[in-house]
Amino acid sequence: MLSAYRTVQCVLASLWLLPACPPPEELQSSGKRVAIIGAGTGGIATLKALFDLPEDVRKSWQVDLYDEREEIGGVWLPQPNPPPPPHLPVTPLYPALRTNTPHPTMTIPRFPFSPMTELYPHHWSVQKYHAAIASHFNLTSHIHLSHTVLNASYHPDSHWRLDLLANSTVHFTEYYDHLIVANGHNRYPHIPTWPGEGDWLTAGVGERRVLHSLWYRDPEYYANQTVFVLGNGASGRDMVLQVIEYADKVSRVVYHSYDNDTSRRPIVFPPIDGAEYKPRISHFTPSSIVFVDNTTIETSGPTTVLLGTGYDLLVPFLSTLSVTPSVDYSTTSLSTNLHYIRPLWRHLLALDPSLPTNALGFVGLPVWIANAPSDYAQGLFIAHAIADDSVLPSRESLFLELESEEKGLQEKGIDPFLNGHKFQGETKATDYQNGLVAYLRANSSIPLPYFLADGHEYVEPWRQRSREDTFLLRKGWLRAEELGIQDEFLRGAVTEEDWVSVMARLRDWELEQEEAEGPSHIADLPL
Ligand SMILES: Cc1cc2nc3c(=O)[nH]c(=O)nc-3n(C[C@H](O)[C@H](O)[C@H](O)COP(=O)(O)OP(=O)(O)OC[C@H]3O[C@@H](n4cnc5c(N)ncnc54)[C@H](O)[C@@H]3O)c2cc1C
Ligand SMILES: *[C@@H]1O[C@H](CO)[C@@H](O)[C@H](O)[C@H]1NC(C)=O
Ligand SMILES: *[C@@H]1O[C@H](CO)[C@@H](O)[C@H](O)[C@H]1NC(C)=O
Ligand SMILES: *[C@@H]1O[C@H](CO)[C@@H](O)[C@H](O)[C@H]1NC(C)=O
Ligand SMILES: *[C@@H]1O[C@H](CO)[C@@H](O)[C@H](O)[C@H]1NC(C)=O
Ligand SMILES: *[C@@H]1O[C@H](CO)[C@@H](O)[C@H](O)[C@H]1NC(C)=O
Ligand SMILES: *[C@@H]1O[C@H](CO)[C@@H](O)[C@H](O)[C@H]1NC(C)=O
Ligand SMILES: *[C@@H]1O[C@H](CO)[C@@H](O)[C@H](O)[C@H]1NC(C)=O
Repeated sequence: MLSAYRTVQCVLASLWLLPACPPPEELQSSGKRVAIIGAGTGGIATLKALFDLPEDVRKSWQVDLYDEREEIGGVWLPQPNPPPPPHLPVTPLYPALRTNTPHPTMTIPRFPFSPMTELYPHHWSVQKYHAAIASHFNLTSHIHLSHTVLNASYHPDSHWRLDLLANSTVHFTEYYDHLIVANGHNRYPHIPTWPGEGDWLTAGVGERRVLHSLWYRDPEYYANQTVFVLGNGASGRDMVLQVIEYADKVSRVVYHSYDNDTSRRPIVFPPIDGAEYKPRISHFTPSSIVFVDNTTIETSGPTTVLLGTGYDLLVPFLSTLSVTPSVDYSTTSLSTNLHYIRPLWRHLLALDPSLPTNALGFVGLPVWIANAPSDYAQGLFIAHAIADDSVLPSRESLFLELESEEKGLQEKGIDPFLNGHKFQGETKATDYQNGLVAYLRANSSIPLPYFLADGHEYVEPWRQRSREDTFLLRKGWLRAEELGIQDEFLRGAVTEEDWVSVMARLRDWELEQEEAEGPSHIADLPL
């Protein structure tokens, strides 16, 4: 119910005579305790979104973000000496990593990368960008680094109980009303096994290895080795492109093994020049690797099988989440089948019947999407749902929406429980983000941040276009680097609008070059 005073202010705000319509009074003073787990893109974007709520809504809230790493940045924070298997590294980052997307698409709204940042930057620029968000927006006092969450459990009276370990030594417990999990999904490697693999390894002990991309660091290590890379996603392709420079070109090749059946994958990237395509592995013998088409490669000398086989979706510290192979339409208590967490409304809010619908949010689960803007939209949604739970309809109707989304996928021949949180195409990913913001615009009693006040679609058309053009832009960027003229494109770019025109100029220039000289010889790189 609007007070008369507020009604007047809201009318003035709608006429642009006041900057914003204040939130309802009953929401202005209630203390809430909110914990965020993770200081990667998801956690930092969410923290920023929480503090984009009007100050009088959140001023009495306690907001704590925990991360076990010693700095902000999640996967973008290097771990120079990862522990050997079976111990898990905390990031798959390798020294040569550059982004495969232009950085203006990797931002939260209205906070671009710093001037002169190369368009496809090395990883450290991305880490610095995340740290800059925290310091620029004065969020640092809420961020607790070197804090590991060991257990998060929900109790009807005390709500979330977090058992924490600080500085590897101090155990303590904190309580919260709302929990936001942004722990990333490049943490628990998915490691398939094959018949005969153990015997193959034993027969070549000291010379043969099977290693997941989580542990992959330096391509030089594979000089003169026979290398099999499995998987044609971002990790698999990156590893092929890098080790190809080192594996002996005369007597040895890099084998790239993946399922190239386009009917089973929405996107199959083109083969990489210089790598020999193989289908999936069927099994090993003590001296060879056998593929599903019955072709066999005898292995001799140092050989590594690099697994770009992805990650399992797990949140081990979340006691409310159970792990089970059978997640389907009947799954109502929070579960993961390692691909998909159900039931979540819009990949975001847990619909577990033991929890209020705004008690547990997941940020960053969507894949095949631009994470930073998507994470920000998710964070903003959760912030509003925490501030005012009346923005959400009943759990039953949220559940019905989830079911109808899943059935929609199934009708297109996609198993929703295996597809997980992937978006089938850039338009779907854009619609998802726009839908979250449009929902708030239509339903929230609390004003949106100033940069969303004018009612434009959340994902500006340039963001979608730049992702769709990422191959073209990347070819242009690499061509400009080869000619040593890349800085000419960057000079003077400061605002988001400036970066949009940097990309537009580069796109036009690359198209002109290709028209003049034929296509670039530079290989397409993965998205
Ligand atoms: C090799 C690689 C290359 C990539 N390249 C690109 C690219 O070019 N462009 C692009 O857009 N995206 C890229 N991505 C995707 C990238 O993962 C996302 O863009 C995004 O950075 C993920 O952020 P996140 O916050 O979800 O997860 P993360 O970055 O993984 O952050 C999660 C954080 O949670 C913390 N955490 C987890 N568990 C606990 C716990 N129990 N207690 C305390 N803290 C905990 C972790 O320490 C970590 O800091 C790449 C990913 C990888 C792995
Ligand atoms: C951060 O804090 C400083 C000092 O208190 C202040 O001057 C600045 O405006 C704040 N920045 C933001 C983005 O709120
Ligand atoms: C986490 O805490 C809950 C509730 O106290 C407990 O039941 C559960 O066993 C704990 N899990 C772990 C892994 O310690
Ligand atoms: C962890 O270490 C930091 C830096 O030494 C210190 O400021 C902080 O108080 C410690 N935290 C706990 C919970 O012991
Ligand atoms: C790889 O082989 C070449 C040629 O035999 C040799 O010069 C080089 O040192 C080898 N590299 C490594 C890392 O073994
Ligand atoms: C997949 O690989 C096989 C060779 O194993 C080849 O005949 C076929 O054309 C490839 N299909 C696609 C879609 O690349
Ligand atoms: C591979 O060999 C096995 C056993 O000889 C046979 O059953 C199978 O049909 C063959 N597969 C293909 C793809 O040729
Ligand atoms: C507003 O909320 C209702 C009830 O949940 C929902 O059906 C509707 O789609 C929302 N509006 C928008 C624009 O999303």
